[in-house]
Amino acid sequence: MKCPDVSSSSDTGSRSDLQLYQEALSCMDLIASKLEKDVDLPMIDQLYERCNSTIEELRTAQPNPHISASLESLLETLSFQQSLLDSRRRGYVTERRRTVSEGCFNRGMCKARNCSMRRNSERLEREADRFLEVEDMLMPLSAEGGSLEDIAGLHEVKQILREAVVMPLQYPQLFQDGAKPWTRLLLYGPPGTGKTVLARALASELQCPFYCVSSANLLSSWVGESEKLIRELFHQAQSQSGQCVVFIDEIDSLCRIRSQMEDEHSRRVKTELLRQMEDIKRKGESSVFVLGATNCPWDLDPAFLRRFQRRVLVPLPDRESRRAIISSQFKTTPLELSDPEWTSLLDTTEGFSGADLTHLAVAAAFFPIRELQTCRFWRFTHDNKITPCSSDTLGSMQYPLSKLPADKVIARKVELKDFISALQTTPPTVSPKVVQQHYEFSTASSHS
Ligand SMILES: Nc1ncnc2c1ncn2[C@@H]1O[C@H](COP(=O)(O)OP(=O)(O)OP(=O)(O)O)[C@@H](O)[C@H]1O
Ligand SMILES: [Mg+2]
Repeated sequence: MKCPDVSSSSDTGSRSDLQLYQEALSCMDLIASKLEKDVDLPMIDQLYERCNSTIEELRTAQPNPHISASLESLLETLSFQQSLLDSRRRGYVTERRRTVSEGCFNRGMCKARNCSMRRNSERLEREADRFLEVEDMLMPLSAEGGSLEDIAGLHEVKQILREAVVMPLQYPQLFQDGAKPWTRLLLYGPPGTGKTVLARALASELQCPFYCVSSANLLSSWVGESEKLIRELFHQAQSQSGQCVVFIDEIDSLCRIRSQMEDEHSRRVKTELLRQMEDIKRKGESSVFVLGATNCPWDLDPAFLRRFQRRVLVPLPDRESRRAIISSQFKTTPLELSDPEWTSLLDTTEGFSGADLTHLAVAAAFFPIRELQTCRFWRFTHDNKITPCSSDTLGSMQYPLSKLPADKVIARKVELKDFISALQTTPPTVSPKVVQQHYEFSTASSHS
């Protein structure tokens, strides 16, 4: 299509209605082609402004109300694109997101052509909001979620995730015939066992588009909006060129067992989500992978449970994992525990979740820092730092903390007694009953 000279719009009166409308469309095409090739935002910005004023000028001079309405609709599409451009300017739109934005731009262009007269600005605004809301769920590719290896223990779960998601991405040729990769997997287990961190680590390991969704993201108070948001989410996911993961955290808040008391709104949300998950199943070649996480799988509607081809228990950490989780909190702060002290600590923390252990370690690490406030006797370390000591230590010096050079002061090592004190305020949060419930669910689930 011929690109118009957008700067020479002053002779609008001498051209036919059709010509004017086509010129307006050409303006939009010009921007679309620029968006594909350029990342020069100020230049595209300038072009928008020129197009905007050109279409506005054409519209004002236009006596035909139908053409004028069409031009108005084009202006709305332009402003929709402007909001996409703003999001790019805010700096969180990655290269892959740019592709999605352009996909949406083209969709907007088609719609503008086909039904521009019918579209009203409120609808367009909602569509733009919805698009951006879903885009916000896309985790940046540079996310520092660590890798699966950084997560302590959970070897079986990590192995399953690798087989289900990582391998089909890295070795697609292995999954062409009989071995079809799974498309839906549910992680369940007691709170704080690492389901969310597993998903985040997977995202950063995969380096593929990863939509991280919580029920709060999807539930809107606008009637019908949640369903549209779910549709938009899966539409965007499926329009990605390679593999893509949709992670729905705390999926139980969306997919609880249906009841008589349930309102129409949540019923429709569930139906839409089921439909979208079903669609993925039907499209044999689809590369969208749905990962769900919940800490109460028994609350999930059986229709949803059935749709997850694998349900994987994320258990409480075993002995070795507990040691790794505690140690990982002391990369810079020194920890001094003898083997018998480790044994005692690991015995005591049986039944703690990963989150409990993290809190315990943080609480324990505070005791030596707190002691600094009341400490009176200090000594120099071999690397010329100043650390607390007892009054009878050879070469000790007596000062209040405030009189010492701040950058030289270091706390003593964290010891078993600090963990014992910390245990008073940070008990385990997962009851044996909940653990039992998960094992029972796991057994029942493996027989179903
Ligand atoms: N296996 C683990 N290795 C290292 N850290 C862990 C592990 N499990 C849990 N943690 C720690 O516990 C914190 C909470 O984990 P996470 O939020 O993933 O739990 P969750 O299973 O999603 O809990 P919930 O069911 O409540 O959503 C993490 O930030 C992490 O510090
Ligand atoms: Mg979680």
